[in-house]
Amino acid sequence: MPVALTRGVSRSIGRCELTHLARETIDVGLAVRQHHAYEACLESLGCRILPLPPEPDLPDAVFVEDTAVVLDETAVITRPGAESRRPETGRVAEALKSFRPLSFISDPGTLDGGDVLRIGRELFIGRSARSNPEGIRQMRLQLEPFGYSIREMPVKGCLHLKSAVTLVSEQTVLINADWLDARYFNGLEILEADPGEPYAANALLINGTAVYSQAYPATRRRLEKQGIPLAIVDVSELAKAEGAVTCCSIIFDTNGADP
Ligand code: GLY
Repeated sequence: MPVALTRGVSRSIGRCELTHLARETIDVGLAVRQHHAYEACLESLGCRILPLPPEPDLPDAVFVEDTAVVLDETAVITRPGAESRRPETGRVAEALKSFRPLSFISDPGTLDGGDVLRIGRELFIGRSARSNPEGIRQMRLQLEPFGYSIREMPVKGCLHLKSAVTLVSEQTVLINADWLDARYFNGLEILEADPGEPYAANALLINGTAVYSQAYPATRRRLEKQGIPLAIVDVSELAKAEGAVTCCSIIFDTNGADP
């Protein structure tokens, strides 16, 4: 059974990092309810939720995806690009160490999990404001010995690689081609997000169903037309903190370890 590691919404989320969005008031109570509904959605798709408690003084800690990249062989504990987010990794490493041997990104490398998209044995890694060439070099060094090939690409106009592209079926990527060159994904089916919905390329594929935000109806119609099964969630308050559906969990198989 896959596990979804999550972390509760911090009461200080209103002080989150923002890069491309203007600050808006976040209704923390609503954000907490939306996050619970998101966890329930993941549970309904077959995940066992492993919830970490909120970190009251770490505004972005709900976006747990950025703190680790979990593969079958190892969990890479990242060094987030935003300094305010670096203390987020400790508790996540603690939680993951019973499931995987840990590896670490170290200074001067930076890497956010939101910049890493795994498709089979290929890891597409975005060079972004958060993930630097040294962080990507360290990923290569640690993961190529396991047989992963690393493909590095620049990310422009958005926060993370996975703001611009995610997987919506085993062979289909959903992409905002204004932010990322679709040719990096030659060989896969490409579905473009509706141009009127630039943030719509973020979906979380679990057991063949794409968890997807209700905020993007035009792109949703494109997904439905392709026959992609969807589980729709409302994450409006988390989106104000520049978060999306992939950011709020780390999904992995327990490989039989069930501490
Ligand atoms: N607020 C999400 C981030 O900047 O990491």
